[in-house]
Amino acid sequence: MDGKDRFSAEKIDAVYEAIFKRRDIRSFENTDIPDELIQRLLKAAHHAPSVGYMQPWNFIVIRDAKVKAEAKESFLREHNAASEYFEGEKKEKYKSFKLEGIEEAPVNICVTCDPSRFGPHVIGRHSMPETDVYSVCCAVQNIWLAARAEGVGVGWVSILRKASLKDILGMPDHIIPVAYLCVGIPAKFYDKPELELAGWSNRLSLDKLTFSNKWGNAWGLEPVSTADDR
Ligand SMILES: Cc1cc2nc3c(=O)[nH]c(=O)nc-3n(C[C@H](O)[C@H](O)[C@H](O)COP(=O)(O)O)c2cc1C
Repeated sequence: MDGKDRFSAEKIDAVYEAIFKRRDIRSFENTDIPDELIQRLLKAAHHAPSVGYMQPWNFIVIRDAKVKAEAKESFLREHNAASEYFEGEKKEKYKSFKLEGIEEAPVNICVTCDPSRFGPHVIGRHSMPETDVYSVCCAVQNIWLAARAEGVGVGWVSILRKASLKDILGMPDHIIPVAYLCVGIPAKFYDKPELELAGWSNRLSLDKLTFSNKWGNAWGLEPVSTADDR
């Protein structure tokens, strides 16, 4: 069965390739990336779906070393605190991970959510107000995929205190910082998630995550074979 207005086989492969080969990047080359490229990524973000066409996002493009240093400080504080959640070998492993590239990356982008955009009556948001933040996450994923196609790496840093970030970036009270992204030419695109390569966790079986009609009923289909089975 063919869908309608289907892409050519080559273009379909390219879409899946961007999805399968996208990685979270924490190590960057010391190379700048031009504003025009950043602008293309933001245009991809701005074409994301959003609840009631709310487009609740803003993008703060950061190149200033002082601002990055302040964000890095917040990361270090939170990272230290987070290591206390683990014990023994797991704690040592956690501490050995590189979980940000804030100062290495030529560009950082903070993607925010404005819950007040277009007032209180946004189509589709009454029963699920958090759909504004979900919409911003769709925009972030568009950046991530477009960047991968462009050979650009993106790393999402969430080990930051929201209040510090708002303060550092001078955001109004009602704005929610959703994603802090490090963007640049990656040292490497790994084949698999770094946390998988480090033996921290594995990709779960899609088969076990998929139900038929009601929660818990196995769907029972054979795994799909794709060009890239990562
Ligand atoms: C909401 C969100 C927050 C994340 N926060 C961090 C982070 O603070 N530091 C980090 O190194 N990676 C972070 N990541 C990246 C994940 O660790 C990564 O996506 C996951 O391990 C799978 O690897 P992959 O993105 O390379 O496929 C985050 C990802 C998401 C979606």
